[in-house]
Amino acid sequence: MLMMLQQALRVSARGAFPLLKWMERCTERVSAGHQGARTLDQMPGPNVLSFAWDLFAKRGLSRLHELQVRSMPSFGPILTVHIADPGLIEQVLRQEGLHPMRSELSSWKDYRQLRGHHYGLLTAEGEEWQTVRSLLGKHMLRPKAVEAYDQTLNSVVSDLIDKLRFSRKKSGLVPDIASEFYRFGLEGISSVLFESRIGCLDPVVPEETERFIQSINTMFVMTLLTMAMPQWLHQIFPKPWSIFCQCWDYMFDFAKGHIDQRMAAEAEKVSRGEKVEGRYLTYFLSQTGLPMKTVYSNVTELLLAGVDTISSTLSWSLYELSRHPEVQSRLRGEVLKVLGDRRIPNAADVAQMPLLKATVKEVLRLYPVIPGNARVITERDIQVGGYVIPKKTLITLCHFATSRDPAVFQSPDEFLPERWLNRDQSHHPYASVPFGVGKRSCIGRRIAELELYLAISRILLEFDVKPDPGGVSVKPMTRTLLVPESQINLQFIELRPSPLPLPPSLSSSSSSSLLLNMDALYETERTKRGAGIISHHLQGSCLDAPSPQRQNSDLGQE
Ligand code: HEM
Repeated sequence: MLMMLQQALRVSARGAFPLLKWMERCTERVSAGHQGARTLDQMPGPNVLSFAWDLFAKRGLSRLHELQVRSMPSFGPILTVHIADPGLIEQVLRQEGLHPMRSELSSWKDYRQLRGHHYGLLTAEGEEWQTVRSLLGKHMLRPKAVEAYDQTLNSVVSDLIDKLRFSRKKSGLVPDIASEFYRFGLEGISSVLFESRIGCLDPVVPEETERFIQSINTMFVMTLLTMAMPQWLHQIFPKPWSIFCQCWDYMFDFAKGHIDQRMAAEAEKVSRGEKVEGRYLTYFLSQTGLPMKTVYSNVTELLLAGVDTISSTLSWSLYELSRHPEVQSRLRGEVLKVLGDRRIPNAADVAQMPLLKATVKEVLRLYPVIPGNARVITERDIQVGGYVIPKKTLITLCHFATSRDPAVFQSPDEFLPERWLNRDQSHHPYASVPFGVGKRSCIGRRIAELELYLAISRILLEFDVKPDPGGVSVKPMTRTLLVPESQINLQFIELRPSPLPLPPSLSSSSSSSLLLNMDALYETERTKRGAGIISHHLQGSCLDAPSPQRQNSDLGQE
């Protein structure tokens, strides 16, 4: 995720060059032992000055994904080898070695070194990375292990639906859905990590939760700046680096607070002679014998990884579905057909919904959360497209450009989920790989997909999702990750009589009594469902001493 910028900014003396589509033609000329292969110096490239001008003078940092597309025919001797052809991307990933590395340098790693934190899965390398990857893989990559989180996640989806109802204006309009979905993302990943709820979807969101989300946002913005500034500039303009560190400090503290709280609760149970049985990721990690510092850094990075990724993908999914009512209606039909009389799908149900999966796949093709990834192959030189790429060269995989390339996808800018269902339309297997491929690919993929499938299918059962009547098209922008450039506002029109009719007193209440009334309403609803899924804790801080309320798993079953 840091790579597009890094590649653009850390100019090696030697430079590096693009591998362009035409290079595929050269692959036939590659022979064993690099014989006949060309060197980087022979590789054509764009003009450094014009690229630098685009980057710094024309808001290029937030348009890095567009530069990928625009510069495809002329991406030049700039810092890295850029690859946008699926065949060439495949060649790189097939040679990535035992312990793939995304990049050698990053301000994320610098921060951890400075503070003496351990690395988490996002930032660790080599054997250290492999150890944690294998341990976490058992709980995050095995389908059965992940399916077991469906009820946990469903209870979070129930709260999201209640929250959407709560946030709707009279017209049904919910402004800035991405901000609602940040909270959903954080609540979802927290429920998987801690098996308890942290109140992100409560009518009043705990302050430290808001601050955590804000810290992620600011950290991503500052990531671009800190990567753009050489270290010596940090002394002259200290603000970006210091804000960046403050954000990380808060995120590490937040995660540590929750972990310590959970561990203290377990220890107390053990001291009372009770059996401790956890089915949450932090518990599994803490049982592996890894140092607590490694547990803290991994949980921090998993929390971080589960917020913007889910929020952006869910926002774009509903945005596109609102603009394609015919797809939305077919998708709703698919969900209803699988569920019959039931209203709440489980993991086995969503596995039988091909259009739902195709929709998410298409959304991630159009808006890959990580628009450009990278690899550094440290052990040996490799050959790609007839060129020798020396070891330690930063190789950028331009996924956004690949996904939007008309030679790879017909009508590349159109939202056409069917393209993934139509057997006549085949695509190169590396043409759209939003979760990456191979040993270092996204470890959260299965959890993310399950969470998205459960959320989209439930939302479509409750609401007809329509565009903002006064709205305009929203474009993506790069903020390290690819996110909506401006607010996405959508209308959520009730499909059946609201299960939560607002009593007249609510419409004329002051905001504080409105919240009280809302609580009363939620309480009634909660009792009706016979499970605690809505209003968990409205006071206290997750960084405070453990509260009995939050120690109990609040994950009601539906
Ligand atoms: C739509 C949602 C998501 C997308 C598109 C996505 C995409 C990605 C991509 C492209 C990578 C880099 C893969 C590579 O270098 O080959 C990655 C890595 C990672 N993701 Fe995700 N991700 C998503 C959600 C999540 C979630 C929910 C979690 C946490 C539960 C997560 C945790 C991670 C971690 C820990 C890594 C680093 C893996 C490693 O280096 O071994 N991701 N993700």
